[in-house]
Amino acid sequence: MSTFNAIFSNSITPTTDLHFLAKLKKPKVSSIHVHIPRIHSSLVSEPEKSVISSGSSKPGILGSKEVIEAEGSVFVRTYARAPLVLESGKGCKLYDVEGKEYLDMTAGIAVNSLGHCDPDWVKAVVEQANILTHVSNVYYSIPQVKLAKRLVESSFADRVFFTNSGTEANEAAIKFARKYQRYSHPDEKQPPTEFISFTHSFHGRTMGSVALTSKEQYRLPFEPVMPGVTFIEYGNIEEAKKTIVSGKTAAVFVEPIQGEGGINSATKEFLQTLRTLCDDTRALLVFDEVQCGLGRTGYLWAHEAYGVTPDIMTLAKPLAGGLPIGATLTTESVAKAINFGDHGSTFAGGPLVCHAAIAVLDKIQKPGFLTSVSKKGLYFKELLSQKTKGNQHVKEVRGLGLIVGIELDVPASPLVDACREAGLLILTAGKGNVVRLVPPLIISEQELEQAAEVLSNCLPVLDQTAS
Ligand SMILES: Cc1ncc(COP(=O)(O)O)c(C=O)c1O
Repeated sequence: MSTFNAIFSNSITPTTDLHFLAKLKKPKVSSIHVHIPRIHSSLVSEPEKSVISSGSSKPGILGSKEVIEAEGSVFVRTYARAPLVLESGKGCKLYDVEGKEYLDMTAGIAVNSLGHCDPDWVKAVVEQANILTHVSNVYYSIPQVKLAKRLVESSFADRVFFTNSGTEANEAAIKFARKYQRYSHPDEKQPPTEFISFTHSFHGRTMGSVALTSKEQYRLPFEPVMPGVTFIEYGNIEEAKKTIVSGKTAAVFVEPIQGEGGINSATKEFLQTLRTLCDDTRALLVFDEVQCGLGRTGYLWAHEAYGVTPDIMTLAKPLAGGLPIGATLTTESVAKAINFGDHGSTFAGGPLVCHAAIAVLDKIQKPGFLTSVSKKGLYFKELLSQKTKGNQHVKEVRGLGLIVGIELDVPASPLVDACREAGLLILTAGKGNVVRLVPPLIISEQELEQAAEVLSNCLPVLDQTAS
């Protein structure tokens, strides 16, 4: 194995590094199948720097192989990651620890809508970090109130609750719906408590959100999850009419465009019917816009494309440009049911993330930004349709704005791997048979052309795996 000098930042003391390396040499669990590299360590002559052998070609950085092997020995194995160790990014480009460049069509799963290291976003983060990062929700802080005002002013909502992630935003929506129903049915022993969700839905991994998530593989191993959820077919109006019931249904959770489920867009008629059914039965309509919201569709909120308004909307991924945040936006009539102490979070809506989110909103709400997302989305879909035309495995190119899916009749993972080798990062969705493309919203037409070119050049790999 090649040896190499890895110089850590001054904040990591040599003692800590040696302790870490000693642990790597002795994996505690025998069932881990990765090879643990022999890592030579010694202290360099500079007083605060340490040396680690590594396969990296860049001074100061562990090589991909070492990082991947180290991860395998210390992580709970929840992530089947791509074998790629990313070190830095700029705009729509990412660089691995060996210095290879990638065009990023994943944006951290629809998170980095301003791309990587947007200068205004970085300035906002640094500025706020120098002032105040965290205070808890025991006290008021200015960025939190400013962000809440911005969200209220630019949406249907009257009030905002901040969280740290998408799943937590949905947990808050679940609790708000239950409390709202209790508050609105004061004389009933059993107010409506049940929820409706849809096939191919994804709402998160915590016990409430996972109960609303249709994929059994995410849900069944953890049962009992929150009871009282009925799944109906996404888009099936007749089924919805039969299942959303007065006195029973507390809320209907739906993604206007399903991301994880395979880039499936609701029809206008479907969302309008859900709105009517919720109004008729006094159930709440919750739009999960964690993935499709905040400019991704070319509309600020995906539901604007449908002209249908929810009672609650959940947001997360792109809101703070890569820092963890979520938000549950509600009408006044829902918020009225919530009292002090009903819900809360230590970290949520801290000054740092909120100031970063304001920088994101400033850009996304600049005149012309959303129009450019729509234009680029149309152009990209057109390009992809042209370039994949005639390929026997490509069934459909679909999506709205810059949330685009390519449905295949075979698993997409060989294509994902081939694209990565060729310097293009893409995701899968659906049952693994959909290519999901959710680039930074600031991507250029030239970069979209590059992505379409690489992707179409890699398509033949599907013939090899299909045969
Ligand atoms: C529509 C939707 N809702 C909720 C979530 C969960 O968000 P998080 O991973 O931030 O908890 C996701 C994540 O992919 C999502 O796509």
